[in-house]
Amino acid sequence: MERTDSDDPTVLLTGGTSGIGAIAARTLAERGATVAVVGRDEDKGTRLADELTGSTGGTVRFHRADLATQDAVRRLAEEVTATYDRLDVLVHNAGLSRQDHTITDDGIELTFAVNHLAPYLLTHELMDPLRATPGARVVVTASGVHRRGELALDDVRLEDGYEPLDAYARSKLANVAFTLELADRLDGEDIVANCFHPGFVPSTALFRDASLRTRLFTRIAAVVPGIGTTPETGADRLVELATAPEYGRRSGGYVGSDGPEEPAPAATDPDRRERLWNVSADLVGIDPDWP
Ligand SMILES: NC(=O)c1ccc[n+]([C@@H]2O[C@H](COP(=O)([O-])OP(=O)(O)OC[C@H]3O[C@@H](n4cnc5c(N)ncnc54)[C@H](OP(=O)(O)O)[C@@H]3O)[C@@H](O)[C@H]2O)c1
Repeated sequence: MERTDSDDPTVLLTGGTSGIGAIAARTLAERGATVAVVGRDEDKGTRLADELTGSTGGTVRFHRADLATQDAVRRLAEEVTATYDRLDVLVHNAGLSRQDHTITDDGIELTFAVNHLAPYLLTHELMDPLRATPGARVVVTASGVHRRGELALDDVRLEDGYEPLDAYARSKLANVAFTLELADRLDGEDIVANCFHPGFVPSTALFRDASLRTRLFTRIAAVVPGIGTTPETGADRLVELATAPEYGRRSGGYVGSDGPEEPAPAATDPDRRERLWNVSADLVGIDPDWP
């Protein structure tokens, strides 16, 4: 891929091919950002990037990566580093919830691998471009569901019983704990890290692998006013954390539906956060002493 040379802010947005992320990609491109969108489907991603580039006046490029595998995360980081000469915002928005208990090629429970370990490893791999860009930001799409999560680090693969919502809540708790720990570790550097809850957005594809009951409920919730919110609202919150001056000064925050709020104690507890950090480093084979 041709290397870019631009003064426009560059945003790397995982999960930018669908739902909340695709709408956020459009808004960011309309505001003049160069947006690097990550997803798994080459045709769908390239079509979206071409359409957004044509209709917004911004530059949108697609990068294919299945974030379930650590090799793909590392390749993505290499591609991004080789393509862009700055990285203003790294947005970890890709996420899934899976009905079946699935173990990845790396031997990791899939929800934990995509929703938490991929952001952890990708951030590690992209520290150089983040450090080289003044005022860089890391934004993580977490969820209010993190409040019902347990990190369950003694059973990372969830072999002792798999329940899809518990696995998802665990991964979202890890999102919040990771963001807070990263922000603390970056204290004194010119990089902030914040996470947010986009609201319950029943109309996205997130629930496509859920149980029949959940799929029925989300289909109803998507059309009955007042149950959920729209992907536009979730995307607005993402764009705010990625661009608003306020969130360039604030780090280690969790933003809920009505603004910044205190996350679950399990995410703020320093011992649990450090253990998650160390276990994650071990699972992706890096030295935990970073950034
Ligand atoms: N919807 C809600 O109610 C809700 C609530 C709280 C938090 N969230 C969070 O919001 C974020 C966006 O979700 P959404 O609701 O917009 O769902 P979505 O429409 O299903 O979008 C998910 C995105 O993640 C990508 N993705 C999934 N698995 C991937 C993998 N293995 N490798 C690479 N990319 C992958 C998808 O890419 P493909 O195009 O390749 O499928 C897609 O772009 C997620 O982190 C989710 O946990 C959603």
